[in-house]
Amino acid sequence: MNTLTNPNIPEVVSAVASDGTQLRYALMELSAQYKDAIALGRGDPDLPTPTHIIDVVKGAIEQQRTAPTPVAGMPELRQALAEKFRRENRLPVEEENIILTTGGQEGLFLLMQTLLDPGDEVLVPDPRYTSYDEAITSAGGRMVMIPTDHEDAFNLRPEAVEAAITPRTKAILIVTPSNPTGGIVTEERLRQIAEIAIKHNLIVISDEIYEKFVYDGWKHFSIGSLPGMEERTITLNGFSKTYAMTGFRCGFAAAPRNFIQAMAKVKAVTTGPVATISQWAGLAALTGTQEPIREFLRIYSERRKVMMNGLLDMGLSFSEPRGAFFLWTNSSSVGIHATELSYLLLKEAQVLIFPGTGFGENWGGYLRISILQTTDLLKEALERMKPVVERYRAGNLIPGQ
Ligand SMILES: Cc1ncc(COP(=O)(O)O)c(C=O)c1O
Repeated sequence: MNTLTNPNIPEVVSAVASDGTQLRYALMELSAQYKDAIALGRGDPDLPTPTHIIDVVKGAIEQQRTAPTPVAGMPELRQALAEKFRRENRLPVEEENIILTTGGQEGLFLLMQTLLDPGDEVLVPDPRYTSYDEAITSAGGRMVMIPTDHEDAFNLRPEAVEAAITPRTKAILIVTPSNPTGGIVTEERLRQIAEIAIKHNLIVISDEIYEKFVYDGWKHFSIGSLPGMEERTITLNGFSKTYAMTGFRCGFAAAPRNFIQAMAKVKAVTTGPVATISQWAGLAALTGTQEPIREFLRIYSERRKVMMNGLLDMGLSFSEPRGAFFLWTNSSSVGIHATELSYLLLKEAQVLIFPGTGFGENWGGYLRISILQTTDLLKEALERMKPVVERYRAGNLIPGQ
């Protein structure tokens, strides 16, 4: 399932098949040709930003409260975030341990720029969110993949982490809940990984951007709360997923003060402080009602069930997602490479889904399906997908038949 054989795949897709990020962008561009396409590709919430947040932004604009803030962010927001981390994540942090970033994405980038020296290795779970690649390699670092698997619900195995450590290892990157697998790293495993990090004197980068979306009674746990981890953990997060605020480009990180200062130094000469109105939005999100998060979780839980049932109905298996917005679906039973299958699903069913190879070269037998559409649209997408999946599984490889 790891080689592309179908000559019907257009050059724009096959030419970038080995680069996860480019591959996803090529498929998104192609999907723009289909007026009726249902997008189950990207991971940006489709739900509206809560109105009380929008109202605060309107007020800030009307009252001209738009002057730039200090580079690391407005003091009241940094304080509110420190309070959130103490209360919800049990991290022992203060205002000085917090930086606001232009999305979690910039947090990753700033962090790698300040953390890595050329040749340093960062352990990254496979499959992965491929923005990590650019952040790590552009800082001269090298990614070392840690295998995760379906049978283990894509939890991270402490033995696999330890086995990958070399004298050049600088950091372990954890993402829980995970994009793309929807797996979580359980508290028990995090405790073991923390011991390994301490034993080998490693930094831990914990991407917790999906922390609020966990299902079936699973619990999110922050590794930075464990003894001995305070001085070696950088926790990345943001408002994009939790409050459906992707376009505000407002993320944040908690880390030891020297890291925050170093990150702010790079930020000062690149993007400067996060847009002031986005910071007001973040403050309103944190200090206002949290009811929208409960409502989002209810909606995503319902959609997740619809998608799981629909996939089972077409004979596709998956590891039940414990968190995030994705079904990491095993498509190997269809018998064609996931990139081909994604392309054919787009062309013949007008459903945009990313192939597993968008998240790691070993995943040609998987699809990442997001649940960021209404249940009606999800149901329609499933109805359109089923005959395509069945046709190719039956061995009829002639597109369009
Ligand atoms: C795992 C993970 N980390 C970080 C991000 C960054 O999100 P943003 O830059 O919108 O805060 C994303 C976005 O999809 C993500 O999936």
